[in-house]
Amino acid sequence: MSVIILGIESSCDDTSAAVFKDDVILSNIVANQDVHKAYGGVVPELASRAHQQNIIPVVEKAIKDAGIERDEVDAVAFTRGPGLMGSLLVGTSFAKGFALANDLPLIEVNHLHAHVLAHFIKEDEHDTDQPEFPFLCLLVSGGNSQIIVVRDHLDMEIIGQTIDDAAGEAFDKCAKIMGLPYPGGPLIDKLAKEGNAEAFQFSKPKIKDYDYSFSGLKTSVLYFLRDELKNNPDFIEENKADICASLQKTIIDILMDKVVKAAKETGITQVALAGGVSANSGLRNRLTELAKEKNWRTFIPKFSYTTDNAAMIAINGYHKYLKKEFIGQDAAPFARTEF
Ligand code: KG4
Repeated sequence: MSVIILGIESSCDDTSAAVFKDDVILSNIVANQDVHKAYGGVVPELASRAHQQNIIPVVEKAIKDAGIERDEVDAVAFTRGPGLMGSLLVGTSFAKGFALANDLPLIEVNHLHAHVLAHFIKEDEHDTDQPEFPFLCLLVSGGNSQIIVVRDHLDMEIIGQTIDDAAGEAFDKCAKIMGLPYPGGPLIDKLAKEGNAEAFQFSKPKIKDYDYSFSGLKTSVLYFLRDELKNNPDFIEENKADICASLQKTIIDILMDKVVKAAKETGITQVALAGGVSANSGLRNRLTELAKEKNWRTFIPKFSYTTDNAAMIAINGYHKYLKKEFIGQDAAPFARTEF
């Protein structure tokens, strides 16, 4: 018998609700919050207020677009963390209220696990393009850079992660140094397409095993630009595309060198990307090139599943539902997690 799962996501600045029938997506609604643009980053207090305003209409639309009635929902899955506490509280409280009012089981979801499980979202019942176990997942977002060995839907191990900034932060912070607006990642991606990736050299860190570090790169970019601007105040303006292309190539080199090492040493030949930075066209191209060269099977999520969305929460909820992994009404959200 099939089950209907309602997924709720509110960990940062996107309010989202999705409805699934088993592992097939029926709807996925995301309300973005424009209010943060003026501040150059997410303002937590404003994010929670916007979630509070958005959550009811977003859930109502997800249920309507799925073509189901509210009383057909079998379980509610919600992001318990990590994320901004005020934002998480809105989704968590809503999920609890919905579950209580409709007498439904409640399922907690770790936002990071959900990014990985986005690869199992089926567009319809015939969709079979999914990784087999085990596979490696490079999870790259604004807050995380991790290499994960995924052994089963609910069995994952982080084998490498950043010891300071995340890859997305490296994009955003370097963009800020160049005077580009937040979030800088998509803009660097766009400008890099017009530039020469070999024009400038930035330092790459030497970090052990599969771990990452991006704070040195940020400092290297800062000093490089400071020195160049002394000689030519228009240096950034005149070399924007080349700086972006060189910087993007360096970030991709750092990320993929460790993935290549992990694939070689674990013998795993299926590699997936997840998280906001997996939208980066250079990173996607590099993965495709490596796939040909190394004979890997690779998986790149649909753009709408790379950013924060409730579809990935609902698919995670579905797999926990199958294992009857439910949680009580006393569950409090967590801002940080050990994964
Ligand atoms: O997973 P995500 O949506 O949320 C957070 O972790 O907050 O990731 C957001 C990050 C930001 O740092 C943004 O600059 C980066 O993903 N990003 C990109 C691109 N699109 C989003 N970075 C590089 N290239 C892109 N096309």
